This record gives sequence, C-alpha cells and structure tokens, in this order.
Amino acid sequence: MNRAWLILRHIQPSTLNIRQLSTPANMSFTLPSGAIVPVPAFGSGTKWYKPGDPTINRAVVDAIVSAVKLGYRHIDCAEVYGTEGEVGVAIKECGVPREELFITGKIYQAIKDPRLALTETLKKMDTDYLDLYLIHCPFFDEKSHGISIPKAWEIISELKAEGKIKDIGVSNFAIADLELLADAEEKVAVNQIEFNAYLQDQTPGIVDYCHSKGIVLEAYTPLGPIAAKPGPLDPIIAKIAAKYGKDEGQILLRWVYQRNVLPITTSAKPARQASNKDIFGFELTAEEMSEINEFGSKKHYRSYWNAQMD
Ligand SMILES: NC(=O)c1ccc[n+]([C@@H]2O[C@H](COP(=O)([O-])OP(=O)(O)OC[C@H]3O[C@@H](n4cnc5c(N)ncnc54)[C@H](OP(=O)(O)O)[C@@H]3O)[C@@H](O)[C@H]2O)c1
Repeated sequence: MNRAWLILRHIQPSTLNIRQLSTPANMSFTLPSGAIVPVPAFGSGTKWYKPGDPTINRAVVDAIVSAVKLGYRHIDCAEVYGTEGEVGVAIKECGVPREELFITGKIYQAIKDPRLALTETLKKMDTDYLDLYLIHCPFFDEKSHGISIPKAWEIISELKAEGKIKDIGVSNFAIADLELLADAEEKVAVNQIEFNAYLQDQTPGIVDYCHSKGIVLEAYTPLGPIAAKPGPLDPIIAKIAAKYGKDEGQILLRWVYQRNVLPITTSAKPARQASNKDIFGFELTAEEMSEINEFGSKKHYRSYWNAQMD
C-alpha cells in the first residue's frame, strides 16, 4: 500500500478528481498537480484544540502515531489548533518516512504575513515542507487583518513556487470567495468545508461548483449525524449498517466518499481510528445514497463558523 501510494504520486492523472473504485487508487484523491491525497485524513483539531498552549500534549501525539500505525497517511492540522508541535513529534515517532505522509497546514490568525506564518508552522512541525497549505477561512480583508484574500493568495503562491508547499487551497470558502481567486495564476486545488449528511451544502451551490471546477473537496465533521442525534437518519443508517455488517461511522464516511468528498475524521480511540479507515471493502448502492441524501436533507446541522456564515 505504501509503495503503491508512492508510485501513484508520480503518475499524472488522466482525469482530475475522479476516483477509481476497486483499485488501490480508491483510497486517494488526485489534485490538479498530480499529487495523490490519501483517504481518510486524520484530524488534529476539534477535540485536540489547544490554541496558545505550546506544551506538547502526549495524548495528541499518541493518537496521531496510533492512526499512522493503523494506516492513515494524511494528517490535517492548522495554526489555530495549537497542535503543530504534536504533529511534528508524531512525524518523528510514527516510523513512517516524511515523504510517505501527507501533511496539511492552515493559516488564518497570522494571515497578515503568510511567509512568517509558514516559517513558524514548518519550525513547529520540524519539517521542510507542507503537502498542502490552506487559507483557513475567507473572513478577513485589508481592513480587518491588513491583507486581502487575493494578496494572501499571491504570497502563498510564491511560497509554493519556492518549494515550501506542494499544493495550496482554501477552507470554508463560498462561491463568491473562490471567484476572488478565479483569475489568479495559481488555481485553488482544495476547498475544505464542513460536510455531512445533515449539511450537504455548507454555502449555496458550493459542492457542485467545486466539482465543476476540479477543486477537490474535503469534509470536516463528516460524522455530524452522530453528534446530531436524534435525527431522521438514525434508522436509515442503522439499517444500512446492519446490511453491510459495518458501524454507523463507516456508513457516514463511506457516504461522504461516494459523494466525491474526502473525509477528515478523528478519534482518540484506536478501535474507532481503525473502523473509520475501513470504508473501502463495500459500496453503497445508488438507492442507499439517495435515501441518505433525502433523509439527511430533513435536518440541518452545522458545528463551525456559524456566526461568520449566517
Ligand atoms: N477547516 C475547518 O474550519 C475545520 C473545522 C473543524 C474541523 N476541522 C478538521 O477536521 C477534523 C475532524 O473534525 P471533527 O472532529 O469535527 O470530525 P468528526 O470525525 O465528525 O468527529 C470526531 C468526533 O467523533 C467521535 N468519533 C469518531 N469516530 C466515531 C465513531 N466511529 N462513532 C462515534 N463517534 C466517533 C470522536 O470522539 P472519540 O475520540 O471519543 O472517538 C470525535 O470527538 C478536525 O480534527 C480538524 O482537523 C477543520
């Protein structure tokens, strides 16, 4: 698997952002650059969030190391999580070479100076480069943070050209935010959004828009319907899970994946880390996908950025 992934990294995709089922490539997405992004990603935010605290939290390191030993190769992080140091320690301790890992960072608080922010992130993670660097949100401009979105993108594009980042993208961007970058020389490779069966469009039309532009979508909070219980999906997910001998987390993650969105999940529990990764040995039917789409649409659930997006 590791060797297959390394080989795949060097293959130019014939079609962008298309998954091939039943092949090793079905565990990855392909960025426009040709980079292969492993699925699912393991998150170092949310429950691990500790902004402003530089002390290394062994529980975070242990969770990441455990996840990597179970086969995760994609680690999601952000400046604001306060866990860049933990990711750095985990990279050293996990026993997998850096070049076989896919590490994502994000910038927002320090957006005024992306060059300095990236330098700090690389130092904390003790690595020479990031595989993916995202502008964490579009909620800033010259007036609020001393820099506009297009200017921040221009500087991040330069950092990519210098080899400090392999690919660049955004997070929580709506269509209007993405259109600010439509004429940029460097195209947006990824938009990371909150996405689950109870939140099928974080902002109007965003999923179809990104897919139509070849922007890879990543889903945070893919297990939202578990946190949002009780809800209309509960009996549907239980029924489908029983059919496949899977748990509800696996069905919800598989649904995200079959919607052509890359799930980012996290757990402190190795058993859940393992089951959340095991979503490739089965395929939901078109009817099951429609049923989850339909019953998921009956409830709205969003965990993050509510104040900014409302
Ligand atoms: N870009 C953004 O603005 C943004 C915002 C939020 C998050 N993120 C990223 O996305 C990552 C994931 O977000 P998330 O934590 O909200 O995702 P999630 O996967 O939907 O939820 C994870 C939570 O569910 C529990 N869980 C995990 N597997 C489970 C299962 N099979 N059954 C029941 N419960 C389960 C975990 O608790 P246990 O530890 O008890 O298992 C954990 O508290 C974050 O760590 C971060 O990297 C990005």
